[in-house]
Amino acid sequence: MKMLYSTLLFTFVYQSTIATALTYNVVNLGAKGDGKTDSTKYFLSAWASACASASPATIYVPKGNYLLTTANFQGENCKNDAIAIRIDGTLMAPSDYDVIGNAGNWIKFEGVNGVSIYGGVLDGRGTSLWACKASSKTCPSGATTLRFHNSKNIAISGLTSSNSQKFHIVIDGCRNVKLQGMKISASSNSPNTDGIHIELSSGVTVLNSRIATGDDCISIGPGTSNLWIENIDCGPGHGISIGSLGWELQEPGVQNVTVKTVTFTDTTNGVRIKTWGRPSNGFVKGVIFQHLLMANVQNPIIIDQNYCPNNKNCPSQNSGMKISDVTYQDIHGTSGTKVAVKFDCSKKNPCSEIRLEEVNLSYKDQPAEASCANAGGTSTGVVKPSSCL
Ligand SMILES: *[C@@H]1O[C@H](CO)[C@@H](O)[C@H](O)[C@H]1NC(C)=O
Ligand SMILES: *[C@@H]1O[C@H](CO)[C@@H](O)[C@H](O)[C@H]1NC(C)=O
Repeated sequence: MKMLYSTLLFTFVYQSTIATALTYNVVNLGAKGDGKTDSTKYFLSAWASACASASPATIYVPKGNYLLTTANFQGENCKNDAIAIRIDGTLMAPSDYDVIGNAGNWIKFEGVNGVSIYGGVLDGRGTSLWACKASSKTCPSGATTLRFHNSKNIAISGLTSSNSQKFHIVIDGCRNVKLQGMKISASSNSPNTDGIHIELSSGVTVLNSRIATGDDCISIGPGTSNLWIENIDCGPGHGISIGSLGWELQEPGVQNVTVKTVTFTDTTNGVRIKTWGRPSNGFVKGVIFQHLLMANVQNPIIIDQNYCPNNKNCPSQNSGMKISDVTYQDIHGTSGTKVAVKFDCSKKNPCSEIRLEEVNLSYKDQPAEASCANAGGTSTGVVKPSSCL
């Protein structure tokens, strides 16, 4: 007993010593929270130090406004698979959008394993770039605020991202990623400011988040599997979208996606699956949309397989994408247009195993309508508007 106690005590003291030793406070390294001094190199040196050790490390960002230009956190040569980044402050993009506008990403993690971010605000300061894009001037395409690329075992919790130049958060080529308590906001007319975009990734979970933006709240690209989205407030924005898919002829499919307990408020779409009207061998299968509340949503339930803006680059207008096994269950509320349910599937590859269960959508005080083309499946329980499958 005595020996067990001293072993425990030793373990406790030993570990807490390590934990204190491996905290890198960016301010102690030279960063300034004054909103004007470029602090990028101090963040990168904190990262380099954390990576150099095999023991768990914390990078700490105290209160303050830290100006960062493009920051790439590389996992290659990183010995550490337990790095926590605790942020009490705000990271600010440069006020001149040109500084990061053509860089693709503002803050990027690449090839990392075992990184957690707790708290913090990322201010992309994108409003002047959106204004440029709205005028006829030539402007940079804009940077994604935060990207994880080819990474695994990532957790982000309580992070706020506002006014991104382009997409707010992108997860691509990743495995085992958990995002929760995210607050994402950009104005409803900001271009391409998707909240969270996921592609080529497996095992991503998005929980308990509030997303208001000018594009999709969450967009799901090719090669996404085992995705779980739950308890989200979406709006304004374009809703939750699987797609656009099927631009490429050879394209990895989307499989096993759950979207549950989401409120959509004043969005253009609720849940959408969208594919280009082009040849492709991609697919979407095993999707469940469950417990959704629609409040004045233009297209609450929509599959659009004829996406082809300006009728360009879609020679046959037939999507090669195969959509099957999609369930809509317990979906209520109001549609902002008469057609509340629209399945516009591919003539060449009709949608199959579409299931509607307990759907009740109304339009003003009139009956809403459903419209189907090349869609097969079943409906059970109350389904209003009545199913056209
Ligand atoms: C589907 O994805 C969930 C996570 O979202 C996972 O728990 C489950 O095991 C997956 N199912 C299959 C059949 O892979
Ligand atoms: C459908 O929703 C409307 C409006 O919320 C409600 O009045 C009606 O009772 C619901 N119908 C069914 C069958 O649940």
